This record gives sequence, structure tokens and C-alpha cells, in this order.
Amino acid sequence: MSLADNDAAQIPVVESIEQARATIRQWKMAGESIAFVPTMGNFHQGHLALVRAANQSGMRTVVSIFVNPMQFGKNEDLDTYPRSFDDDIASLSECQVDMLFAPAVSEIYPDGADGGAAVHVRGLSDIIEGESRPGFFIGVATVVNILFNIIQPDAAWFGEKDYQQLLVIRKMVRDLALPIEIHSVPTVREGDGLAMSSRNSYLDPNQRKLAVNIYRCLQHVVDSADDGMDYHYAVVHACQELNEVGFFTDYVVVRRQKDLEVPKKGDKSLIVLAAARLDDTRLIDNIPFELMLKDL
Ligand code: PAJ
Repeated sequence: MSLADNDAAQIPVVESIEQARATIRQWKMAGESIAFVPTMGNFHQGHLALVRAANQSGMRTVVSIFVNPMQFGKNEDLDTYPRSFDDDIASLSECQVDMLFAPAVSEIYPDGADGGAAVHVRGLSDIIEGESRPGFFIGVATVVNILFNIIQPDAAWFGEKDYQQLLVIRKMVRDLALPIEIHSVPTVREGDGLAMSSRNSYLDPNQRKLAVNIYRCLQHVVDSADDGMDYHYAVVHACQELNEVGFFTDYVVVRRQKDLEVPKKGDKSLIVLAAARLDDTRLIDNIPFELMLKDL
């Protein structure tokens, strides 16, 4: 176990599976439980909210940083994805972290990211975000499963910002009978409402101003549902509005919170989800809501 350059932080950084396992084994033998927060680094307050929630559990907290090649499409931003390891360690010093697991790609994928076993959470992985990014959730489920097998956490924390990802992980844990509690943390936003994301750093100042329109359009859909109006019009309007201000909109959809299926008569717990691109920067966001006034 090596100490990070930033001595003040004193966060043990582990790069090998063997070393991670040895430490975890010691903790488990001492009767301790493990809270886990998987990430791809480039921390913002959204990530730190997950780490703080894990800290609150009173368990040993393990955070991982691994930019997972398997979840990036061929034309996506794997090479340019922001990596800021030293800053990440510095920001983790605000929290209590017992191990930062930061493996190399070869450690996680000995046969390469497209050569080994894969986990496909069928159905849920293939709709909405999975339709726009084929293979994305197979990459996510596979790496999270590998990380779970290495860290062997009792509980793990995920953000509602990536709502479909959260459901894919919950379903994977249930379907594969993994003994891990999955907890979620609400989306952390900038002052103007933009959901915090590592990819926000790609935005130039003008795009940054435009970016908040995703949240505004989603909020407009929720408001119209709250007002008892047919939200379908607001959804179409949201798409048009985003495209008019300069986005290329992949989708704006309203689905059921529990399984992301199309709402049926009587379904009240809904969520509006959107994905849209400003030039090459693809942003996603969602707002869960309860249908109060009117049935479908
Ligand atoms: P990453 O994008 O780094 O996100 C790590 C975790 O932080 C995820 O659970 C994500 O939902 C959460 N998160 C991101 N932005 C947030 C925000 N604004 N508010 C609350 N939580 C937020 O998601 C991934 O990495 C990867 O797909 C991963 C699960 C690590 C698998 O590679």
C-alpha cells in the first residue's frame, strides 16, 4: 500500500487486486463491513456526496477510480475523458477514505476490455440510454461486477444522476444474488440547476450557459404534470426547445421510476429523463416526480 503524494490527505492508494484483497481480508477478519463508491474520478460535489453518504454508514469506506474503457463506444470520449488524480486525492481529504483503489486497465481486463466475460442485464440495458449508447450498460455492469468481486462490499452507493445506471446495478445485484445493499444519493446540482458532471468541464463558457436548459426543460415537464396538464406536449416542446437553443437531443422521455417502462394507467411515480449534445459534449439529466392531479 503506498501513500499518495499529497501527504496531508494520507489516503492509502492501492493499484493491484492482490493488495486490495489482502487489506479487505484483514478488515473482514476484524469483523468490519465495507462501504464502496465506484467512480471514474474527476471528482465534483456529486461524487463527494456519495463518499460522505458511505462514510455515514460507519463502515470502512473504499472508493475506486477507474476510467472503464468497456463502457465507452468507439467514437466516444475515452481518450479525452478528464483525469485529475492528484486533485481527486486532495478533494477526498474532506472525507474519510480507508482505501482508494485505482487499478490499471490491464489489472481489470487481463484479456483487454473487449476480450473477456461480460454481464448483460437484459432488457433494462437496451432501452433509452442503452439505445443511444449500445453496449454502454454491458460495460458498466461488467466493471461494477468485477469491482464488487474485488472489494466485496456490504453496501455500495450510486448517484440518481445516472438513474438508469442505478436501476441496472440494482437489477444486476438482484438477478445475480449479490449480497450487497445498493444505496442512492439525489443529484447534486450547480447553483443554476445544471447537474454536476465530469463532462461539464468540456463546455466552453457559452455552452455552459446553454447547458442549464436541459434542467429547465425537464423542470417544465414536471411543472406541467403538476398543473394537471398532459405532459406529452411538454415533452415534445422540451425536445424542440433544446434543439432550438443549439442542442442535438437524443431523447426526452417520461417513464415509470421503478423500471423505466412506459407509464400505464394508474402509474404515479414517474421520471423524466433527457440526453442531449452540445457539439461533442453529451449531457444527461432526470427529475423524478409524482403524478398528483390527473391520471394518464
Ligand atoms: P462517474 O461518472 O464517475 O460517477 C460515479 C458515481 O457518481 C455514479 O454513481 C454517478 O451516478 C455519481 N454521480 C455523478 N454525478 C453526480 C451528481 N451530480 N449527483 C450525484 N451523483 C452523481 O458512473 C460512473 O462513474 C461509472 O459508470 C461507474 C459506475 C463508476 C462504472 O464505471
